[in-house]
Amino acid sequence: MSLFTNHNFSQAWHALTAQDPNHRDTASKDLAFWQQHAQGYDANASTPDRYAATLAAIRAYVRPTDTLLDVGAGSGRFAIPLANDVQHITALDHAAPMLDLLQHKQASQQISNISIDQTTWESANVAQHDVVLAAWSLYRVPDILAAMHKLIATTRRTLIIVTSPGNAPDDTPMHLYFYGALWQAGVFPEIKIAWEQPTGEPAPQPVALVVWERQ
Ligand SMILES: C[S@@+](CC[C@H](N)C(=O)[O-])C[C@H]1O[C@@H](n2cnc3c(N)ncnc32)[C@H](O)[C@@H]1O
Repeated sequence: MSLFTNHNFSQAWHALTAQDPNHRDTASKDLAFWQQHAQGYDANASTPDRYAATLAAIRAYVRPTDTLLDVGAGSGRFAIPLANDVQHITALDHAAPMLDLLQHKQASQQISNISIDQTTWESANVAQHDVVLAAWSLYRVPDILAAMHKLIATTRRTLIIVTSPGNAPDDTPMHLYFYGALWQAGVFPEIKIAWEQPTGEPAPQPVALVVWERQ
């Protein structure tokens, strides 16, 4: 009998996401979504008061000599500013409209140390990187436990998963599911909370960083 019979966080995550009527459970559904929403997402997400504290928290884990893999890099909200902090970034994403926005920013800001890898995480074939970042991008993988094993194997030093710790109106503590899936994959992460204060919001908004450092 499996050691994890009563602690199957991966299965719990799949059961949870399956309940969501908006769950984009296939790559094609997700690609169709980003075809429609890439510009809108970028305009909203790239407001600094929505990510500045999270970026600062990520920066505390990176070094100038690092290679960094950004899984689900999207339009580059983190990859673009982090390019100044590390030696090289691989921006991996399966959605061309998002990567087009990232490439446009890269060109206009004359950033030359970001490589694009247009693929899904589940089919990606990537070398180890010092730091692996997955920010808001693990919502539709077909097998979350396999995705976690792959993230761990690809991490040379530090793995950072950024997600919601249960903000209104969807109060799901997603960080705990990801923590559990990482634990199930055999590692012991830590959880850090960054606080964003978006303009117009009455209270600061928590963002969770689930961080595993290879010993
Ligand atoms: C919500 S956006 C987040 C983008 C960026 N990390 C950020 O924080 O602004 C999610 C991104 O993850 C990408 N994505 C989702 N699932 C993916 C997968 N399995 N493989 C590769 N990219 C994926 C989507 O195409 C999208 O660009």
